[in-house]
Amino acid sequence: MPHGTLLCYHSGMNAKEEIDKLTSELRIYQDKYYKEGVSLIADSEYDRLADRLIELEREHPELQHPDSPTKRVGSDLTNDFPEVRHTIPVLSLDKAYSDEAVLDFFSRSIQKEGGALSFAAEEKIDGISMVLYYEGGVLRRAVTRGNGEIGNDVTPNIMTMRSVPLSLPEPVDIAVRGEVYLEKSDFLRLNAEEADESKRAANPRNLAAGTVRRQKSIEAVRVPLTIFCYEGFWSDRSQTPPDHLHILARLKGLGFRINPHLAFFDSTREKAEEKLRSAGLDGKAFAFSDIGGFIREKSAERPSLAYEIDGLVFKINELDVRERLGYTEHHPRWAIAYKFEAPQAEAKLLDITVQVGRTGRITPVAEITPTKLGGSTIRRATLHNQEYIDELELAIGDTVSISKRGDVIPAVESVTEKNSSGNTTFVLPAECPCCHAPIVQVGGLQYCPNPGCPDQVKGRIAYFASRDEMDIESLGPRTVELLYDAGILRSVEDIYTADYSAAASLPGLGEKSIALLEKGVRESLSRPFSTVLSALGAADIGRKSAEMLVRSGFDSIEKIQNGTVSGFAAIPGFGELTGERIVQAFASPSLRKTIEGLRKAGVHLDASQDAKGEDLPKTLSGTVWCITGSFEAFNPRSKALREIEKRGGRTVSSVTGNTTHLLAGKGGGSKRAEAERLGVEIVSEEEFMRLIGMEAAAPDDGQLTLF
Ligand code: IVH
Repeated sequence: MPHGTLLCYHSGMNAKEEIDKLTSELRIYQDKYYKEGVSLIADSEYDRLADRLIELEREHPELQHPDSPTKRVGSDLTNDFPEVRHTIPVLSLDKAYSDEAVLDFFSRSIQKEGGALSFAAEEKIDGISMVLYYEGGVLRRAVTRGNGEIGNDVTPNIMTMRSVPLSLPEPVDIAVRGEVYLEKSDFLRLNAEEADESKRAANPRNLAAGTVRRQKSIEAVRVPLTIFCYEGFWSDRSQTPPDHLHILARLKGLGFRINPHLAFFDSTREKAEEKLRSAGLDGKAFAFSDIGGFIREKSAERPSLAYEIDGLVFKINELDVRERLGYTEHHPRWAIAYKFEAPQAEAKLLDITVQVGRTGRITPVAEITPTKLGGSTIRRATLHNQEYIDELELAIGDTVSISKRGDVIPAVESVTEKNSSGNTTFVLPAECPCCHAPIVQVGGLQYCPNPGCPDQVKGRIAYFASRDEMDIESLGPRTVELLYDAGILRSVEDIYTADYSAAASLPGLGEKSIALLEKGVRESLSRPFSTVLSALGAADIGRKSAEMLVRSGFDSIEKIQNGTVSGFAAIPGFGELTGERIVQAFASPSLRKTIEGLRKAGVHLDASQDAKGEDLPKTLSGTVWCITGSFEAFNPRSKALREIEKRGGRTVSSVTGNTTHLLAGKGGGSKRAEAERLGVEIVSEEEFMRLIGMEAAAPDDGQLTLF
C-alpha cells in the first residue's frame, strides 16, 4: 500500500467512508495473513492503517463495524462482562467411566429408537465452554456457559482470537458451541515468561479461563487461545443440516475450526466410512464393537496431543433422533462423555464464606459437603479470589470436583454439575465481613483497607507468634482469638505487656497454659532481629528476605525505616517494586506504633543485640525464681524473668517449697509472706541488678547468697 493512500483518506472522504474503506482493506490483509500466512503489506504500514482506524472508531463509535478488524488487536478499555441469557440450552454431558458404559449408551439409544443409529466420537477438550452468536453472519456475542441459562458476555476477548471468525461468508443467524483452549506448549512458554510465581497458572485451562476474562482485551492478545467448534444451532431450522457430520462440515465451510481428530461409529466400519465420506470429512471409521480398542488408543495418544483432553464425547449423529430423545434437566439424552479418570472427588458447594487475612486480603472459601479424599475428610477448600470464582462460574449448590493441590491444600478444580436452583455465579460481598469497610480491588485481588480490622489484627498477632516466626509457645490462632475477643490482647505489641492472668478463666485456657504462654512470650524476646523483622509481616518480608536485608547492611529497624526505594532495590532479588513496598509499609503509623511497643518490651530491633543474651554464663542454673511487686528497671516485669531465664534460672508463678528465690519489687504481699514462711531468699531489685551484673556493684550493703 503506497504511503499516499492514507493522506487521501483525510482529504477526500468523510469519516464513514474512511472507516468503511479501512475496514475492508484491513480485513483483506488480516484474512490473508491469518489464513494463509501471507503478508500483503509491510508491518509498519499495516500498523499505521490499523491505528488510524482505531482513532476514527474512537471518535465515531457509532460507525464502527461490529466485526471491525480492530477487534483483533484488543483494547485497553475495561471489560465488564455483562450477564446475558443464552438463546440455546447450554447443557453439560452425562458421564461414563468404562467401555461398557459407552457401549450401553449405544445399545440403549438404538433400542429406544428401534432403528439404525450412528455416533460421532470427539475428543473432550479440557478448556472453556463458549457459545458464539452470529447474526446476519456477523459475530455479535461470545458468551460463557455460566449456569447454562445465563452466561457472561466476553466478546471483546474472544474477538482477539484468530480462529474465531468475526464474520461469515453467508449472512446466517447461528449459535456455535465450542471449547476455547490453550495448547500445552503455549501454556508452558507463557508460564515460564511470567516472573511473578504467584501469577503462574496451574494448568492450560486455568490460564485460558483467566485470559477469557482479562479486563483489558489488549492483554488477551498475547495468549494464543484457540477454539474447536463442535455444535451449531441455526435459527432458521430449514438451514439445519440433517446430522452431526454435516453440521461439522457446514461449520468448517463457514470458517470455524473443527477438530480433525474425529471418529465415527456405525454397525460396521464400512458404513461409518461411507458416512464420513459423504459428509466430506476426514475421520476414523469404527464398528460399535471396536469401542474398547478405540478408547485404549485414545488414552495412549492423550499425552502426545498438543492440547489437554479429559475424555471423549460420543454423540448420536442423526438430528431427528436427537430431537426425539431430547434432554433431561441437565443433559442431552443423545450424548455421553467418557471420562479418562474418575473425578478425584465430587462434593456439593454448600456455601462460600469469606476470610480476612492479616494483610487484609479477602479469601473466599468453599464450604462443601464432607468428602473423603486422599485419606482425609475435606469440608473446606480455598477459592483464591473473585477471579477464580468467575473463571469456574461457581454458584452455591453446584457440584464441584475437588483435588488436593500438591497433595495438601484442597482446591476446587471445576464445576461438574450446575445447581438446579438457578443460582448464578457467586459474588464477594462489597464490604469486609468483619469490620464492614468497603472492599477495595488491587490487581485482581480483594482487600479490606482497614488496618484496624479485628480479623486483620488477629491475623497479624497470630502470624507474629507462629512457629515459623517468633515461635511463641501456646499462642496459636485460637488463643489469639480468645485473648483478642476478651480485650486482653489487642495488638502485636500488646503481646509483651498483656496481663495474661486475666485470661485464666477463659474457656480452654487455665493457670498452666497461661504460665506456658507467659514463658513463651519471654523466650521470644531473645529471637534475632531478622526473625523479628520477618514476624512483623510488613510488605510480606519473609524469613529469607529478612535475612537478606540484614546481610545487606539493613541490620537495624532504624536503617530499614530510613531506607530508600533504590537502596532496597539494589539488594539482589529485590527490585524496585519490593523497594517501594518496604518503604510504604514502614511509613505506616500502625507499624511504627508496633515497633515502638516492641522496643519498649526489649525485642531485638538491632542485629547487634542478637547474640548477647544467649551467650551469658549460666550463673543462675539450678535456681527457681518467683517474682512479685513492680520494678523500676524491669517494666514490664517479665523483663526480669527473662534475665533469670537467660542465665539458666527457672521461673515459676507461685512460691512453693521448690522456690529458691523471690524477686520482690515494690508492693507485693502474699508471695512475700509465703516466701518468709518457707524461708525462701527474698531479693530486692537493686540486689538482683547487681547479681546479674546490670549495674556497677553498689557498696557492700548486704549479703546475697545463691544457696
Ligand atoms: S458437546 C449439548 N463436545 O464438555 C452438547 N462438549 O460436560 C454438549 N466439551 O460443557 C457439549 N469438548 O464444554 C461437547 N467435543 C465436545 C467437547 C465438549 C469439550 C465440554 C463442553 C461441555 C462439557 C460437557
